[in-house]
Amino acid sequence: MKINSIFISNFRSLSDFSINLPQKLLIKGKTGSGKTSILESCFVVSSGRSFKTFDIKDCISKDSQNFYIESDFDDFENYSRKVSVAYDRKGNKKIIIDGNVSSRKDLLSIAYPVVHSPEDMFIITGSPKFRRDFIDRICFVEDKSYFDDMSEYIKYIRNKNAALKDKNAEVVKYLNAAAAPLIDRIRKKRNVSCETINKKVSVLLEKLFSGMKVFFTYNIDENYAEKLESRLEKELEKGFSLYGPHLDNINITTEVGNAKNNISMGETYITSFLIKLAELSIYAEKNEFPIFLIDDIFVFVDDETKKTLFKEIEVLKNQIIMSSSIENLNNFNNIEVFYLSR
Ligand SMILES: Nc1ncnc2c1ncn2[C@@H]1O[C@H](COP(=O)(O)OP(=O)(O)O)[C@@H](O)[C@H]1O
Ligand SMILES: [Mg+2]
Repeated sequence: MKINSIFISNFRSLSDFSINLPQKLLIKGKTGSGKTSILESCFVVSSGRSFKTFDIKDCISKDSQNFYIESDFDDFENYSRKVSVAYDRKGNKKIIIDGNVSSRKDLLSIAYPVVHSPEDMFIITGSPKFRRDFIDRICFVEDKSYFDDMSEYIKYIRNKNAALKDKNAEVVKYLNAAAAPLIDRIRKKRNVSCETINKKVSVLLEKLFSGMKVFFTYNIDENYAEKLESRLEKELEKGFSLYGPHLDNINITTEVGNAKNNISMGETYITSFLIKLAELSIYAEKNEFPIFLIDDIFVFVDDETKKTLFKEIEVLKNQIIMSSSIENLNNFNNIEVFYLSR
């Protein structure tokens, strides 16, 4: 996919902004000039979500009632599309693809973005939620039915929580039993995605940073039904669900053990960046080339590492939009630079 142009209205500090986007672009500008907001708009228009906030209403400019983003892009099949995404303060969203009101699922079937921002370092150092979200995204792409599995799962948790609140043990037991095959499916798919990403990461590490090791581990209980049964009393007491895929632990292990507490800032950056490169290579095998948005590129790493990583992204077939506030970032060849002066 490739975004050819984007128009941004009332999105964060951008009230009325358009830009043509080449195959590879570096956006430079001072802190607060709006670099991240441009990348975030590209993300929103190709996914219906933000990578900065769970509540997309945060993106609406302070004094506005709604934001609107419109873009011309080539989708994965190379069809040119006109897509717009709008949100208002009441939470109404409108995704329009080629004049037709569409869903997020429709959008994700023709395009999706991959982003790396410094916040992605939380995949390594943050709570398991960050790792679950990362693995879930790969599951979505690897198997489109995962989207429906997850929607069904969320519905199950909602119903279960309502029953737990009512202290209705019989309904909870019934819901648990009905959800068992779904839960099994979700966990198996996640396991497959962990294995797939581990393979890709190890290929990259061998090539670029030999000696480093990084892998995801997902420990699933064999006796799931028993576990659920044993938690029921506690769940009824608390009034909400305490166990299941939405709370599962996924770890990242490196050569020094659990990555969470043992690696430096620079290593954390490298690791989170490599994970995203590995993700892209999974999609490339499916002949899908999402746009790759890299916010605050190469903060926290030394010049040698910058060169190593840059060589990897330079050859990617994906469209890449990068941002940096570093004045003397070693100039990359073949990369257009846009100076954001605001
Ligand atoms: N909802 C909003 N309304 C108005 N301004 C906002 C909103 N959200 C963020 N901003 C402001 O937008 C500016 C640009 O932010 P950002 O895109 O992150 O800049 P950069 O990445 O160049 O440092 C910041 O000064 C921020 O405070
Ligand atoms: Mg920024």
